[in-house]
Amino acid sequence: MKICFELNGKQVTLEIEQRETLAEVLRGRCRLTGVKISCEAQVCGSCTVLVNGLPVSACTLLGYEVRGKRVTTIEGLAREAGRLHPIQQAFLDNFSFQCGFCTPGMILTAKALLDENSAATDEEIIAHMSGNLCRCTGYLPILKAIRQAAAVLRGQK
Ligand code: FES
Ligand code: FES
Repeated sequence: MKICFELNGKQVTLEIEQRETLAEVLRGRCRLTGVKISCEAQVCGSCTVLVNGLPVSACTLLGYEVRGKRVTTIEGLAREAGRLHPIQQAFLDNFSFQCGFCTPGMILTAKALLDENSAATDEEIIAHMSGNLCRCTGYLPILKAIRQAAAVLRGQK
Protein backbone atom coordinates (compact mmCIF):
# COMPACT_ATOMS: atom_id res chain seq x y z
CA MET A 1 0.00 0.00 0.00
CA LYS A 2 1.03 3.61 -0.54
CA ILE A 3 1.51 5.92 2.46
CA CYS A 4 2.39 9.63 2.65
CA PHE A 5 3.63 11.35 5.79
CA GLU A 6 6.08 13.98 6.98
CA LEU A 7 9.44 12.53 8.00
CA ASN A 8 11.97 14.79 9.68
CA GLY A 9 10.49 17.84 7.99
CA LYS A 10 10.10 16.39 4.49
CA GLN A 11 7.07 14.85 2.81
CA VAL A 12 7.66 11.22 1.86
CA THR A 13 5.62 8.73 -0.12
CA LEU A 14 6.39 5.04 0.32
CA GLU A 15 5.08 1.73 -0.90
CA ILE A 16 4.91 -0.61 2.12
CA GLU A 17 3.41 -3.91 3.21
CA GLN A 18 0.36 -3.54 5.43
CA ARG A 19 1.97 -5.73 8.12
CA GLU A 20 5.19 -3.69 8.42
CA THR A 21 5.79 -1.91 11.69
CA LEU A 22 6.83 1.72 11.72
CA ALA A 23 10.25 0.63 13.02
CA GLU A 24 10.68 -1.70 10.03
CA VAL A 25 9.59 1.03 7.62
CA LEU A 26 11.95 3.63 9.11
CA ARG A 27 14.95 1.31 9.39
CA GLY A 28 14.45 -0.84 6.31
CA ARG A 29 12.95 1.54 3.78
CA CYS A 30 14.17 4.96 4.99
CA ARG A 31 17.58 3.80 6.30
CA LEU A 32 17.04 5.63 9.57
CA THR A 33 18.91 3.19 11.79
CA GLY A 34 18.83 5.52 14.79
CA VAL A 35 15.50 3.77 15.43
CA LYS A 36 16.64 0.82 17.53
CA ILE A 37 14.75 -2.45 17.89
CA SER A 38 15.16 -4.52 21.04
CA CYS A 39 12.18 -6.00 22.88
CA GLU A 40 9.64 -5.55 20.05
CA ALA A 41 6.96 -5.57 22.73
CA GLN A 42 6.60 -1.91 23.78
CA VAL A 43 8.62 -2.46 26.95
CA CYS A 44 12.09 -0.93 26.53
CA GLY A 45 11.63 2.36 24.65
CA SER A 46 14.61 1.80 22.31
CA CYS A 47 12.43 2.26 19.24
CA THR A 48 10.81 5.51 20.39
CA VAL A 49 10.08 8.10 17.71
CA LEU A 50 7.85 11.16 17.85
CA VAL A 51 4.52 11.13 16.01
CA ASN A 52 2.93 14.57 15.95
CA GLY A 53 5.34 15.48 18.75
CA LEU A 54 4.43 12.61 21.07
CA PRO A 55 6.64 9.59 21.86
CA VAL A 56 5.45 6.25 20.47
CA SER A 57 6.97 2.77 20.26
CA ALA A 58 7.70 2.26 16.58
CA CYS A 59 8.00 -1.51 17.15
CA THR A 60 4.30 -1.94 17.78
CA LEU A 61 2.80 0.81 15.62
CA LEU A 62 2.04 -0.24 12.06
CA GLY A 63 3.67 1.87 9.39
CA TYR A 64 0.41 2.84 7.71
CA GLU A 65 -0.85 4.34 10.98
CA VAL A 66 1.35 7.42 10.44
CA ARG A 67 -0.36 8.37 7.17
CA GLY A 68 -0.77 12.16 7.13
CA LYS A 69 1.20 12.55 10.37
CA ARG A 70 4.50 14.12 11.36
CA VAL A 71 7.26 11.67 12.33
CA THR A 72 10.56 12.70 13.92
CA THR A 73 13.50 10.36 14.43
CA ILE A 74 16.83 11.12 16.05
CA GLU A 75 18.23 11.86 12.58
CA GLY A 76 15.83 14.80 12.33
CA LEU A 77 16.75 16.42 15.60
CA ALA A 78 20.00 18.24 14.92
CA ARG A 79 19.05 21.81 14.09
CA GLU A 80 21.43 22.57 11.29
CA ALA A 81 24.68 21.12 10.01
CA GLY A 82 27.13 20.78 12.87
CA ARG A 83 24.75 21.99 15.57
CA LEU A 84 23.19 19.44 17.89
CA HIS A 85 19.86 19.87 19.63
CA PRO A 86 20.42 20.98 23.26
CA ILE A 87 19.28 17.56 24.52
CA GLN A 88 21.81 15.78 22.29
CA GLN A 89 24.54 18.17 23.47
CA ALA A 90 23.57 17.63 27.11
CA PHE A 91 23.82 13.83 26.69
CA LEU A 92 27.34 14.30 25.36
CA ASP A 93 28.32 16.77 28.08
CA ASN A 94 27.11 14.50 30.88
CA PHE A 95 28.40 11.17 29.51
CA SER A 96 24.80 9.97 29.50
CA PHE A 97 25.39 6.87 27.40
CA GLN A 98 27.79 3.95 27.09
CA CYS A 99 26.71 1.60 24.29
CA GLY A 100 24.22 4.21 23.08
CA PHE A 101 21.52 1.72 22.15
CA CYS A 102 18.87 3.38 24.30
CA THR A 103 20.02 6.93 23.56
CA PRO A 104 17.91 7.92 20.51
CA GLY A 105 14.75 6.81 22.29
CA MET A 106 15.80 8.53 25.51
CA ILE A 107 16.49 11.81 23.73
CA LEU A 108 13.23 11.79 21.78
CA THR A 109 11.19 10.93 24.87
CA ALA A 110 12.91 13.76 26.74
CA LYS A 111 12.20 16.14 23.85
CA ALA A 112 8.48 15.44 24.06
CA LEU A 113 8.56 16.37 27.75
CA LEU A 114 10.68 19.50 27.41
CA ASP A 115 8.67 20.78 24.43
CA GLU A 116 5.66 20.66 26.74
CA ASN A 117 7.32 21.63 30.03
CA SER A 118 10.91 22.84 30.15
CA ALA A 119 10.48 23.49 33.89
CA ALA A 120 9.80 19.82 34.70
CA THR A 121 10.86 18.73 38.19
CA ASP A 122 13.11 15.72 38.76
CA GLU A 123 10.05 13.71 39.76
CA GLU A 124 8.27 14.67 36.55
CA ILE A 125 11.32 13.83 34.45
CA ILE A 126 11.74 10.44 36.13
CA ALA A 127 8.05 9.60 35.70
CA HIS A 128 8.05 10.69 32.05
CA MET A 129 11.20 8.68 31.26
CA SER A 130 10.04 5.52 33.06
CA GLY A 131 9.21 3.70 29.81
CA ASN A 132 12.78 4.00 28.51
CA LEU A 133 15.22 1.42 29.85
CA CYS A 134 19.01 1.68 29.87
CA ARG A 135 21.08 -1.42 30.50
CA CYS A 136 24.49 0.14 31.00
CA THR A 137 24.78 3.83 31.86
CA GLY A 138 22.73 4.23 35.00
CA TYR A 139 19.99 6.79 35.16
CA LEU A 140 21.66 9.65 37.04
CA PRO A 141 23.70 10.94 34.07
CA ILE A 142 20.55 10.78 31.95
CA LEU A 143 18.62 12.82 34.52
CA LYS A 144 21.47 15.33 34.70
CA ALA A 145 21.48 15.72 30.92
CA ILE A 146 17.74 16.36 30.79
CA ARG A 147 18.04 18.93 33.59
CA GLN A 148 20.84 20.69 31.68
CA ALA A 149 18.89 20.67 28.41
CA ALA A 150 15.81 22.02 30.20
CA ALA A 151 17.83 24.96 31.51
CA VAL A 152 19.21 25.68 28.02
CA LEU A 153 15.74 25.50 26.46
CA ARG A 154 14.27 27.77 29.14
CA GLY A 155 17.00 30.28 28.35
CA GLN A 156 16.06 30.20 24.65
CA LYS A 157 12.40 31.10 25.28
S1 FES B 1 11.84 -2.30 20.77
FE1 FES B 1 10.06 -1.10 20.87
S2 FES B 1 9.71 -0.82 22.99
FE2 FES B 1 11.42 -2.16 22.90
S1 FES C 1 23.65 3.35 27.00
FE1 FES C 1 23.60 1.20 26.72
S2 FES C 1 21.49 0.70 27.00
FE2 FES C 1 21.62 2.78 27.56
